[in-house]
Amino acid sequence: MTKRALITGVTGQDGSYMAEFLLGKGYEVHGLIRRASTFNTSRIDHLYVDPHSPDARLFLHYGDLSDGARLTTLLAAIKPDEVYNLAAQSHVRVSFEEPEHTADTTGTGTIRMLEAVRLSGIQTRFYQASSSELYGATPPLQNEDTPFYPRSPYGAAKLYSFWITKNYREAYGIFAVNGILFNHESPRRGETFVTRKITRAVAAIKAGMQDYVYMGNLDAVRDWGYAPEYVEAMWRMLQADEPDDYVVATGEGITVREFLQTAFEHAGLNWEDHVRFDERYLRPTEVDALIGDASRARNKLDWVPTIRGKELARLMVDADIEALEHAGRPWIDKVQLDSWATSVVHGAAEQ
Ligand code: NAP
Ligand code: GDD
Repeated sequence: MTKRALITGVTGQDGSYMAEFLLGKGYEVHGLIRRASTFNTSRIDHLYVDPHSPDARLFLHYGDLSDGARLTTLLAAIKPDEVYNLAAQSHVRVSFEEPEHTADTTGTGTIRMLEAVRLSGIQTRFYQASSSELYGATPPLQNEDTPFYPRSPYGAAKLYSFWITKNYREAYGIFAVNGILFNHESPRRGETFVTRKITRAVAAIKAGMQDYVYMGNLDAVRDWGYAPEYVEAMWRMLQADEPDDYVVATGEGITVREFLQTAFEHAGLNWEDHVRFDERYLRPTEVDALIGDASRARNKLDWVPTIRGKELARLMVDADIEALEHAGRPWIDKVQLDSWATSVVHGAAEQ
């Protein structure tokens, strides 16, 4: 029997890798996408097959986590065996600018999905994209027993989602799990997260298109892993005999400064010649250090990561240099437009 999955956030970094992974396992994959005035499917375009074709196994549906009725009717119609709730306003800095929207999408959106599961009466397994941001001010090492102390509207919204997922597991017997994922990156990472911002800047500086990149707090420590490996951990959680919550991390932390240094050195550049400080990129409250202990995932799911922070920096620099070489002029224009927007529209391009 072909398994069927629904992915919210299918157009995002993780959603695109998850769609690829599940198609590779023979699943029929359904993805929720937001209607936008421009195309927003660039991360999954390579997977798309005309739905009229008998070979089509990826199907996209318009919907939004703010629209509970739509989520319920969609779940009732698709009847997925597995639901991966990956959609969110996922940027921590932006959550200070848009706290209500973040609460609505990243927090209340989860209860809308869980209610859709409950009200549609379908039998399904539910994955919730929880985050190491839950730990916030609690120092490393962090594992499933570490107390939460979120430090942003995003972290607080994810905290609600964590507990409501656990509550629906206990109250209604739904196979619902939280993956507490530490930062994970890839060449598909959103351009305003720190790793991708750095590796795109390295490519542009190397190509002589810009001289400087403006950064915030370089002392923050993160446990950076590789996104394609992390979506496999999500899938493994839904294949387990019993639902549980799992930390997914590499166990190694490096500072933003070390990531910068590694990325610039890989391209033959000295980071100190090109990095400048801009307080705009600081956060009102910072999460100083996240390093995860993923022993439970290793022991119960047999999940082991292989790519860690510095290797990831090199891999992403290579990908951005190659993307720049192949994209040519239109990409160059976009970079120039972005930096123009950043300098003219103060605060609009928070990164
Ligand atoms: P991402 O690239 O920012 O993707 C977010 C996805 O959510 C996009 O597809 C976006 O659609 C969609 N979305 C946003 N608001 C929505 C709404 N109101 N209704 C429906 N869809 C909406 O995020 P990611 O890095 O793939 O992360 C996936 C999930 O894991 C997120 O929940 C994130 O908070 C969580 N997480 C990520 C990390 C990490 O390091 N990457 C770590 C822990 C947890 P558009 O394309 O239309 O914007
Ligand atoms: N984005 C950004 N831009 N971050 C900067 C900058 C900058 O110019 N300069 C320094 N940083 C620091 C931030 O202050 C933070 O400490 C660190 O770099 C990482 O920032 P992000 O890459 O924006 O990620 P994040 O850790 O805040 O959040 C990501 O990981 C969470 C899991 O821990 C996101 O993917 C969240 O969705 C996810 O839950």
